Amino acid sequence: MDFLITPAAARSGTVTVPGDKSISHRALMLGSIAEGTTEISGFLAGEDCLATLDAFLAMGVSIERQSATELTVRGVGLNGLSAPAGQIDLGNSGTAMRLMTGLLAAQSFSSELIGDESLNGRPMTRIITPLTEMGSVVESDCDGTPPLQIRGGLRLSGITYELPMASAQVKSCILLAGLYADGPTIVIEPDVTRDHTERMLRSMGVDVVTDGNRISLEPGQKLTGTAIRVPADLSSATFVMLAAALSDDADVLIENVGVNPTRRGVIDILTAMGADLSLENPRQFGDEPVADIRVRSSALKGIEVDPALVSLAIDEFPALFVAAGAADGETRFTGLKELRVKESDRIAAMSAGLRNLGIEVDEFEDGALVKGGSFNGGTVESFGDHRIAMSLAVAGSVASGQVTVRETDAVDTSFPGFAGLMAGLGLSIQVNSS
Ligand code: S3P
Repeated sequence: MDFLITPAAARSGTVTVPGDKSISHRALMLGSIAEGTTEISGFLAGEDCLATLDAFLAMGVSIERQSATELTVRGVGLNGLSAPAGQIDLGNSGTAMRLMTGLLAAQSFSSELIGDESLNGRPMTRIITPLTEMGSVVESDCDGTPPLQIRGGLRLSGITYELPMASAQVKSCILLAGLYADGPTIVIEPDVTRDHTERMLRSMGVDVVTDGNRISLEPGQKLTGTAIRVPADLSSATFVMLAAALSDDADVLIENVGVNPTRRGVIDILTAMGADLSLENPRQFGDEPVADIRVRSSALKGIEVDPALVSLAIDEFPALFVAAGAADGETRFTGLKELRVKESDRIAAMSAGLRNLGIEVDEFEDGALVKGGSFNGGTVESFGDHRIAMSLAVAGSVASGQVTVRETDAVDTSFPGFAGLMAGLGLSIQVNSS
């Protein structure tokens, strides 16, 4: 599919974006290895999380879906998963693959994980190295990419591991394997990353200790099933925030959005750029903080983005590049090396996309300098990356001519219904077959 965007900026309204992808994956994984029932509401019925759901069904977990977003997981306990009949296909999902490898490395059976073309190009050495240190055997292609063959029946030892990069996926992979180890597991992060695994483990009765950048747990603790209300995904809400901020006169309320401090970097960065954002009605969904986000149109200005905020906004940089393209003045992004190994090379993809729409960008190894201006019409590539596609679609809404974004099918991995929801706010995004 392609998106054909005819310029039409956002108008005022109230919207609810789909559930948080990170939390939905974890709810399925932890619910499956818990004892008792886990009731999930607000689940993200996107392709990535549905791949995780299929994986646990294939390992013998009973998961009933009352509706697209409400599920009951009948947990089988730490050692109750059964061998899947064949390979497990995790589609586009790095989160599913990295977290599940930690879990599967500790099972009594062997397994094989495969993915789509994008996932098959993503680095897995970052999880294989610590898992090997714990005593597991995980084989990849010779360049450290999937498919992954995970040997079962091995006894794992606890480790103390200093992460070489800030990655919640790697941290979570090690913590999940650590549940099964024969001693304590300690992960030290270079920068704080999203802590949904730690919060959810705690909500299920596991004692996980966080001391600054050091997270530790003792093995053998059982998880107890619980009710998990998944907040709306701040990463998806970002596209609405961007569309509203860039419009002339919009006042948009986005309901029930997860505003966990380890995810909130985008709010701080957009605010520093002059966006008019406020968090209303702050409350908790279980262990996760939630608020309604109000966004009013405002002029954005270029800034030097604080690299300390990168790990707290890691998925929002494609959208922030668009904010920078529309801002008055220059925006400098640094410390973004990890963006080169996401669903696409997001520094290259966004630099190319913005240039095609008439914005000057100097790209460098760990970031870019974006010279704000106004967007032209044109044709841009998404490189099969959901967040590139949605970011460039929002750029199209305030461009001077029509914008075509190519290959947008991956949007369904994280934000099913994106074009329709944006249409409700006045944007014009036509979905055409390529
Ligand atoms: C995620 C962690 C981040 C993020 C991804 C989801 C998670 O990846 O980019 O979309 O759910 O743990 P990294 O751990 O590779 O930074």
